[in-house]
Amino acid sequence: MTPPRAFVIGHPIAHSRSPLIHGTWLETLGLQGSYERIDVPPEELGTFLRSFAARGFSGGNITVPHKSEAMAHVDRIDAAGRAIGAINTVWIENGEVCASNTDAEGFVASLDQEAPGWDEINGRALVYGAGGAARAVVHALLGRGFAVDVVNRTMERARELAEAFGPPVTAASTRDIDDRLAEADFFVNTTSLGMAGMEPLTLHLGALKREAVVCDIVYVPLETDLLRAARGRGHRTVNGLGMLLHQAVPGFAHWFGVRPSVTPGLRAIVEADIAKPRQH
Ligand code: ATR
Repeated sequence: MTPPRAFVIGHPIAHSRSPLIHGTWLETLGLQGSYERIDVPPEELGTFLRSFAARGFSGGNITVPHKSEAMAHVDRIDAAGRAIGAINTVWIENGEVCASNTDAEGFVASLDQEAPGWDEINGRALVYGAGGAARAVVHALLGRGFAVDVVNRTMERARELAEAFGPPVTAASTRDIDDRLAEADFFVNTTSLGMAGMEPLTLHLGALKREAVVCDIVYVPLETDLLRAARGRGHRTVNGLGMLLHQAVPGFAHWFGVRPSVTPGLRAIVEADIAKPRQH
């Protein structure tokens, strides 16, 4: 039998860290198989998704800018993918191209591992941002019983997101952020603010309850200004690395037949890569 082959497609694709994650699992689990980076421009997306199985691939990951458009070129999309409105993982089942969005699962798995009990309050979550990542995070938080407030620079996008998910989700203006913070049991930044090369997220956490968990989906740097400030105030904090690692688990299991673990060893390898200067 030829070893399974998986891919990550995007445009451009050079910076994806997924090959490092899946390559490390293949190696440490002693499995035969490959995970390849493929640059697929938008005009070739449909053809690629309809032909990857015939070309010998078991499936793969889909990244920017294809996560929404790809939905039109697969046979089945699971509940998470439909709710989030984007897919990041495809595989073949009974001859059909199946798809999911594993970001929500990755988000909760990361919090379960790094901040056990984070959802035990089933209280209010405050989500900063209303883009694609926010949709995955909101879907995940609803799954764990939270009521969710969404705050975004562009209020209209926060409103659209709240309407798409329905009543437990409400949109709030950035002007009201202190009031929303005061009510929150959980705060998460879903924007790229604070990422290396971007503006910082400047937010005063003064109103936030000490017991609230603070999360950032950014993982370069591992500790953003937001997380440093939160840690300084005594909050439990979780960075975005765990979400990146855990969202990769279901895909690997589909393509290679083994469910991998997010181990300290894998974290150390990806952290070392994050610490390396990148050529842009
Ligand atoms: P992603 O899929 O990574 O979430 P996106 O859909 O482009 O990316 O969403 C980016 C998010 O970051 C949005 O919430 C965006 O706010 P707007 O909807 O107002 O654009 C937010 N964002 C990006 N740059 C920002 C900035 N300088 N200040 C505040 N929010 C910003």
